[in-house]
Amino acid sequence: MLTFTEKESLMRHLKNLKNQQVSIGFVPTMGALHNGHLSLVQKSVADNDITVVSIFVNPTQFDNPSDLEKYPRDLEKDISLLEPFNSKLIVFTPSISNMYENGLTSDTYFFDNLENEMEGKHRKGHFDGVATVVSKLFEIINPNKAYFGEKDFQQLQIIRKMVAQNGQKVSIVNCPIVREDNGLAMSSRNERLSTKEREEAAIIYQTLKEVKEKFHSENIETLNKLVTERFLPYANMQLEYFEIADEETLKSANSKEANKKYRAFIAVFIGGVRLIDNIALY
Ligand code: PAJ
Repeated sequence: MLTFTEKESLMRHLKNLKNQQVSIGFVPTMGALHNGHLSLVQKSVADNDITVVSIFVNPTQFDNPSDLEKYPRDLEKDISLLEPFNSKLIVFTPSISNMYENGLTSDTYFFDNLENEMEGKHRKGHFDGVATVVSKLFEIINPNKAYFGEKDFQQLQIIRKMVAQNGQKVSIVNCPIVREDNGLAMSSRNERLSTKEREEAAIIYQTLKEVKEKFHSENIETLNKLVTERFLPYANMQLEYFEIADEETLKSANSKEANKKYRAFIAVFIGGVRLIDNIALY
């Protein structure tokens, strides 16, 4: 397994591979790898000759300095989890200065309002930071395919839009959400939860499943109320938002229309840790 810490040497290496018609898959991550990340890596390794996994905690996508500071980092463990993929894998772990040579700023993007819904509303500048770093990474790696998890469904739709707007050739592959045994969506941030909090956090997915079961028999207003009620008994959890939205536009829906695909989206604080999840309602 080759590891690169500088984009210049990675680009040189990839250029050689591309001259030999090698297909390149790309899995961008912020590290603290878990089985959710590894499912993306597995898919890419199965689909492509070589997979590049980037591990880079991108400062420009954090709206909250303490979240950035507390974001879990364990490069040694990450490398050991990737080791089994061995010769099929290249790991890219750039420094902040190598990625942001002209200072820590993001570009401003417009994605037909996808960027202004849900996470965009609650984390100012977040998607500008994500789009900035993913653009830079796409430029460096120029992959044939790039893999994103449905765990961050809004991010996935935004990246699809960005690629379409720029006429980029990379195809975006979406991968299903990987969950803990109790249903909690795997996340690097789960490491910051206590054992009790991790157990209690199962209510997030339980509630999403209940919404899915009732989606055809209840109206959206009733479902919104139901979700608020489910979190009331938990003093240490705050529901930041729950929305049922059109999967394409991500616009919040008040009523159901035929021929549209809906998804339920949720963000919850447990202690100081912010967790997100979503479920298809079809
Ligand atoms: P990160 O949170 O590390 O996630 C990297 C990729 O793993 C994303 O595509 C995310 O959706 C996917 N992922 C995370 N948890 C998952 C789970 N439980 N099941 C399936 N997929 C999961 O998302 C980012 O990093 C960053 O925003 C990034 C795209 C790397 C840009 O900095």
